Amino acid sequence: MSLSPGAPEFADSHLIELLDGFGLAVKYVRAEGDTLYHDDGAGGEIGVLDLASGFGSLILGHHNPEIVAHAKQLLDEQVPVHAQFSGYSFGIDVAAALNRILRRELGTEEKFYGLFGNSGAEAVEIAIKHAEMDRGMKVAELLDGIEANLATAAEAVAGGAAPSAAALAALGVDTFDALAEEVRRRNAVTAARQPLFLALEGGFHGKLVSSIQLTYNADFRTPFKALAAQARFVPADRVDLAAKIVEEERVALLDVEVRAGAVELVERDFPVFAAFFAEPIMGEAGIKPLTADTARKLREVCDAVGVPLVADEIQSGMGRSGSFLASVHSGLRPDYVVLAKSLGGGIVKTGVVLVRESRYRKEFELLHTSTFGKDGFSSRVALKVLEMLEADDGAAYRRAAERGARARSAIEAVVAEFPDVLLEVRGQGLMLGVQFHDQSGSADELFREWSEHHVFAFALAGYLLHEKRIRIFSTASNPNTLRFEPSIFITDEQIDAFAAALRDVAQVVRDQDSAKLAR
Ligand code: F0G
Repeated sequence: MSLSPGAPEFADSHLIELLDGFGLAVKYVRAEGDTLYHDDGAGGEIGVLDLASGFGSLILGHHNPEIVAHAKQLLDEQVPVHAQFSGYSFGIDVAAALNRILRRELGTEEKFYGLFGNSGAEAVEIAIKHAEMDRGMKVAELLDGIEANLATAAEAVAGGAAPSAAALAALGVDTFDALAEEVRRRNAVTAARQPLFLALEGGFHGKLVSSIQLTYNADFRTPFKALAAQARFVPADRVDLAAKIVEEERVALLDVEVRAGAVELVERDFPVFAAFFAEPIMGEAGIKPLTADTARKLREVCDAVGVPLVADEIQSGMGRSGSFLASVHSGLRPDYVVLAKSLGGGIVKTGVVLVRESRYRKEFELLHTSTFGKDGFSSRVALKVLEMLEADDGAAYRRAAERGARARSAIEAVVAEFPDVLLEVRGQGLMLGVQFHDQSGSADELFREWSEHHVFAFALAGYLLHEKRIRIFSTASNPNTLRFEPSIFITDEQIDAFAAALRDVAQVVRDQDSAKLAR
């Protein structure tokens, strides 16, 4: 059986060469539920259990019949896909539906404003921009306050006050006017500094120009470091270290005060940091849910630093964890929530940032626009997805939890049989990761080589695809972890087929039979 479509010349040739080396370059021609089909070369098709699941964007499966019927109806009804800048948009309906859900799950009466984009990374970039605009407005307020204090001091000087010797010496000047000018000059330099972001080690927030700087994986991030503001990273289990980082990065604005007839210099903390980004279940890090302790410390740090806490629920949200937001499980209380992936129902591309009213800067609406953002078709599909998830008092969330528990216990049984090969299964609901032990110390040369090049899971994936007709990948930054993120419609048979295949491949690894994997 050859699954390879041959090396194309015009796109992805390098990637396809890599995938082809593991038998993973396949041209799929049809998709349905949790199954992808490729042709068998003889006019028929071969089904593959798809556990890669659109990288977690198929909570309702490929071509969910209800969503497809709805989409067809929208096209037949000639729903306006484009009616930009008309004030009203179907995006408002999506934001309204999301408000009901977020308020319920986060236990707040506060309103959330929706800002729409077309993908996960784009929604993250919108969150970055909004947070930076908020920071910039705070800086402007601080500078206005300093300007007012300089004016007060100037009046005092006209009335006989004078700058203190210490103030003049600190700035190397000898008159009040020179002091005021130097305060303004230094503050302008400080205000023009790039902001910093806080994010978690191992985190993934996208690959666009700014979002890639919040993504921990250095291979993805560092080539583009010069293009955008940087993040300082803290381990999820040591969020308290953020306080030390903030102290290290502390910068002050200069201000003046008139005390007992003397103009004195004082320092005001400059807002260096714009936001703290965290995934409630860290996906690319290897499917690692945040603990309640981490969630609490994140809130404390953000309150202390005065930055918004951004929950990147792009992968963990939309019901996958057993509730709409994975934040619910650890008690994370975000200021912004970012969603994408499954919001598009597996057929459209859309992303959104929800910002708490108390943190919202309405001026942003006039600055950020996108031709395709919140288009009518995507928004109406997204609305349908939300209706389906919320139907029957959240039956979809209960189903995600139940299917997830069923899958987890099947996988746990295999882990228990192969503790020498499998480290553990982690996650929540239908966002599970199965971690294999590192093979870099293996006696087998190929196993060692795959491990060193972080492609051990590619070899597992190639074997599972060819021998078991199961498509599954590893997480990007934890290459020994396979990610299991199927739809809520995954059946017992499919779960058992995966567990049996995992058992089989674990045996191959236990036997250190790289020839069998590579075949
Ligand atoms: N944030 C998280 C938590 C993600 O998992 C992803 C994508 C993004 C942001 C970016 O979204 O791809 O629509 O621009 N994760 C993919 C994955 C790459 O493999 O799960 P995007």
